[in-house]
Amino acid sequence: MTKLYTILFLTCLVVNIPTLYGNVLEDEEFWEKQANSFDDYWKKREASAEQENKKAYIDDPFSFTGNVTDNITDLIVSDEKEEKKGRKLAGKLANSACVATNPIDRCWRCDKDWEKNRKKLADCVLGFGRNTVGGKNGSFYKVTSNLDNDMVNPVPGTLRYAVTRTAPLWIYFSRSMTIRLNQELIVASNKTIDGRGVDVYIVNGAGFTLQFVKNVIIHGIKIFDIQTGNGGLIRDSETHYGHRTQSDGDGISIFGSSHVWIDHVSMRNCQDGMIDAIMGSTAITISNSHFTDHNEVMLFGASDSHTVDKVMQITLLFNHFGKRLVQRMPRCRHGFFHVVNNDYTNWEMYAVGGSKHPTIISEGNRFRAPDDHNAKEITKRTLTTQEEWKNWQWRSIRDEMVNGAYFIESGPVLTNRPFAKNDMVSSKPGSYVVRLSRYAGALKCVKGKPC
Ligand SMILES: *[C@@H]1O[C@H](CO)[C@@H](O)[C@H](O)[C@H]1NC(C)=O
Ligand SMILES: *[C@@H]1O[C@H](CO)[C@@H](O)[C@H](O)[C@H]1NC(C)=O
Ligand SMILES: *[C@@H]1O[C@H](CO)[C@@H](O)[C@H](O)[C@H]1NC(C)=O
Ligand SMILES: *[C@@H]1O[C@H](CO)[C@@H](O)[C@H](O)[C@H]1NC(C)=O
Repeated sequence: MTKLYTILFLTCLVVNIPTLYGNVLEDEEFWEKQANSFDDYWKKREASAEQENKKAYIDDPFSFTGNVTDNITDLIVSDEKEEKKGRKLAGKLANSACVATNPIDRCWRCDKDWEKNRKKLADCVLGFGRNTVGGKNGSFYKVTSNLDNDMVNPVPGTLRYAVTRTAPLWIYFSRSMTIRLNQELIVASNKTIDGRGVDVYIVNGAGFTLQFVKNVIIHGIKIFDIQTGNGGLIRDSETHYGHRTQSDGDGISIFGSSHVWIDHVSMRNCQDGMIDAIMGSTAITISNSHFTDHNEVMLFGASDSHTVDKVMQITLLFNHFGKRLVQRMPRCRHGFFHVVNNDYTNWEMYAVGGSKHPTIISEGNRFRAPDDHNAKEITKRTLTTQEEWKNWQWRSIRDEMVNGAYFIESGPVLTNRPFAKNDMVSSKPGSYVVRLSRYAGALKCVKGKPC
């Protein structure tokens, strides 16, 4: 009898949580609809994506995260010297000299001919998404129209046409434009969406979907005020279109995909998650981006039952989590999450959390807690007991705590890391973070000048 009650109770919880917490992806109903909506084509895509996602998984993520940190510490040391030389000029250099402040940016931003060498960007990614080359091996495609009228046969020149092609493409924009996506934009593999040099706003419509794809770069665009799309017939590749159920209202939804790099994107106010990565998605880096005005910012893993998310490996690097954000930066399940040198200037409930034994290595971030006494804790463990979570490895290394912020650690101390012996930053990591993430969000790049 007790068992029966437990089951009933749990069932109620499962049913109720989605409405309490809000993300559509955590709703069982969503998954039932989703499963029934896959035709044979998508089932095949799912099977091959699953293989790719497993291949992208790194057996020893600890040695790898050490490599990323090495690169950052090298840069910080050289930066410090430079800043001593020219501190007074800092901030005014935009038009005269390169002010790239972190290793990803430094790799391309100082080139005044960045516009002629757009594909150089693909060599710059760090972290778990480091093998992402996007459309580097393909031709350029110039988007000339901001329209999005035909979901099944998108008009050449539109963004939807570009992202549904089979061949690898490096997609850029002829002019500044505001695009309202009628329905979710289903991006095919081997694509770069490069908004540099113009202002590209994706607003007031549906968001991006990366479903069972591999190798996508999204760079330098603004994604604001995203809503659900009603669904219907939508093209997802040159060779296929099909019926889609209502999209969930995410800014960027990464679904069963690998090798994804999101860099210098500005995002605010999406109806569901801002960036969600689910269903075994892995080999992802989200860097240099700026987030504001949102409740549930990032969901990595949608359900405790999706054990496929154990392959999930995601790096968050040099991002600025800014004003009016509430929670989930990110909220993790099962996988391995390296949260490095991000600036958290505000949250209302918590910053980093999760359930189901995720590994979270939080390193050199600056966490500024809100004034609310009840929200000083950075971390949140959902629906679990201390007996269970005490073994989850959640470590805070050289994070800077501001305004009473505190991180509750658990699990083993990090020891098996190659970076430890030549670790060079020990004093003021917080002040470095401000510098490292100073240019988070979409940049204003001008042709013929360092960006
Ligand atoms: C980390 O760097 C070392 C030395 O540069 C290299 O041998 C090793 O393969 C790297 N590890 C990963 C996971 O990339
Ligand atoms: C670190 O940076 C160097 C060059 O600056 C690069 O060759 C190497 O691949 C980077 N390591 C990692 C792990 O990204
Ligand atoms: C791109 O080209 C390089 C070199 O030819 C190749 O090794 C790589 O697999 C290609 N990658 C993609 C995604 O096209
Ligand atoms: C993407 O590019 C790689 C390397 O060129 C290729 O093997 C793969 O089939 C491409 N993916 C798709 C879906 O076209």
